[in-house]
Amino acid sequence: MLPNKQIELKLQQAVRAVLPDADSSAVLIRPCPDPNFGDYQSNALMSLAKSRKMNPRQLATSVLAKLDVGDWCEKVEIAGAGFLNFRLKNAVLSGALQAAARGEHLFFESVAQTSGLCSETGQRPVPRTVVIDFSSPNVAKPMHVGHIRSTILGDSLARTLRLLGHRVITDNHIGDWGTQFGLLLLGWKQHLKPDALKTDPLGEMERLYKMVSATGEAMDTVRNAARQELVKLQSGDAENLKIWHEMLALSQKQFDTIYARLGVKFDHALGESFYNPRLKPLVDELVTKGLARESEGAIAIFFDDMPQLKEQPALIRKSDGGFNYTTSDLATLAYRLETWQPDEIIYVTDGRQQLHFQQVFAAFRKWQSAARSPQSAIPKLAHVWFGSILGEDGKPFKTRSGETVKLADLLDEAEDRAFKIVSEKNPDLPEAERREIARVVGLGAVKYADLLPNRQSDYVFSWDKMLALQGNTAPYLQYAYTRIRSIFRKTVETSISDKSRVNIQHPTSNIHLAAAEETALAKHLLNFGLTLEAVAEEYRPNFLCNYLYELAGKFTSFYENCPVLKADDATRASRLALCDLTARVLKQGLDVLGIETVEQM
Ligand code: ARG
Repeated sequence: MLPNKQIELKLQQAVRAVLPDADSSAVLIRPCPDPNFGDYQSNALMSLAKSRKMNPRQLATSVLAKLDVGDWCEKVEIAGAGFLNFRLKNAVLSGALQAAARGEHLFFESVAQTSGLCSETGQRPVPRTVVIDFSSPNVAKPMHVGHIRSTILGDSLARTLRLLGHRVITDNHIGDWGTQFGLLLLGWKQHLKPDALKTDPLGEMERLYKMVSATGEAMDTVRNAARQELVKLQSGDAENLKIWHEMLALSQKQFDTIYARLGVKFDHALGESFYNPRLKPLVDELVTKGLARESEGAIAIFFDDMPQLKEQPALIRKSDGGFNYTTSDLATLAYRLETWQPDEIIYVTDGRQQLHFQQVFAAFRKWQSAARSPQSAIPKLAHVWFGSILGEDGKPFKTRSGETVKLADLLDEAEDRAFKIVSEKNPDLPEAERREIARVVGLGAVKYADLLPNRQSDYVFSWDKMLALQGNTAPYLQYAYTRIRSIFRKTVETSISDKSRVNIQHPTSNIHLAAAEETALAKHLLNFGLTLEAVAEEYRPNFLCNYLYELAGKFTSFYENCPVLKADDATRASRLALCDLTARVLKQGLDVLGIETVEQM
């Protein structure tokens, strides 16, 4: 087990010895924000003390008396209001790096591998089953840049949780049912241009939708006709179903092209229509159980006991008898529980859906407490929401002519711009190679720009910033990776003796940390796993972006201050091992963000 996880485990044991009823799984250690205070810090005792009305420093003292981490740490210190600060022993640090160099770990632990141990102690997290609902575009509409955030964020969370050993189920909850199909069907029947449908199916469907909804707003007759088309579809009319299926297939084809380009895969794509047969029985059940009631002809769930939702009942059947988004999400939740028994469900959408998910989660809790036995665990539900993408003028990101930006066009532009940059830097590389580098760099830049900001704030989309080779960008990290890889190419070319050449291809596991920059780099490498855990815990891939950026920075100061190729044999081998580990963590970290690397740029 990694030394930082050992310390965490021992700390949890000490906390249980002092407070037998405490939930020690929330007792975590994190890298110390200021290295002057130590390498790791835990603030968990302060919240434990607070909830028990205890003096936090006193609690810290009692825990410390039970804490046995002498194998890994220097003296543990209590700081401030009750923080615990830990400093790793040097030998423990180099031991962990040597194990990594031998290929025993890459600074993180998979709960899948340690699960035996987990169940024995009952304390370490066993693999959890996590359903992630993300991307979820709407049929008959081109995927626009707003869907990019959901797709990219959701994919990186899925990758992180999988790497940590959890059982992840990804589900693309496609918007393939609902009132928009009334307008679409009407438009299809009256105004379809078959040629346009062939060349740009989603563009044509979008045109039909816009056209009919614009007139529909003005005219009752159009609105009524659209409603009739919808009713026909919902009651299984053969012609309308056939058109609907065609709309689905055409949309899915375009979605698949984009997902293939982005390297995003789903385990399931159960759209809203899949839950249609479940909506009526669900509403009936909620009414029978007394959880929903009629109000002005509609049926709603009221949250009288919840101050923040008191004025916001959730409608689950409209007065015209139709069901809505909330009904469909409740049915989806029930299906997921029955089918996958998840410990956690994560929904990734934009911030405008916050109220919707508060209602869904609250309704679900009521429903569960009515249906389940008290001891059965209720899964954790998380709405992972994000802000908007803005143009450089600070307004919602649009094309020059004021249209919403289509995702496919955006990705094309990213690759084109990257191709220009790559061609300027490397005019001599064959074109096919430059195109491949441009693909990796262009897509990487777009993804990273989306993952780097705090997801809840809006961010300004800037081609120049995201494609820059300097600063906190994907191209900078991809370039840092290629630079390390080029050290290994150089070592083969230079005049190093045959014996050392062998070592270079299989870096030594004998790591010796002497210079301050070496130790700083080594400590940062060791924090990779804790960073991944924090990403999974708080659903924030930006923690990993910043970790990788710092890693590249620490590597640069190491490389500038510690000669590698010119050092004596033993030092060179040890430093090459540090280079190799840094490259591996960079590559693995970028991969978790869904970003590829190349060997040369
Ligand atoms: N289709 C929806 C949209 O584009 C997102 C669906 C999110 N997932 C869910 N279970 N509601 O806004």
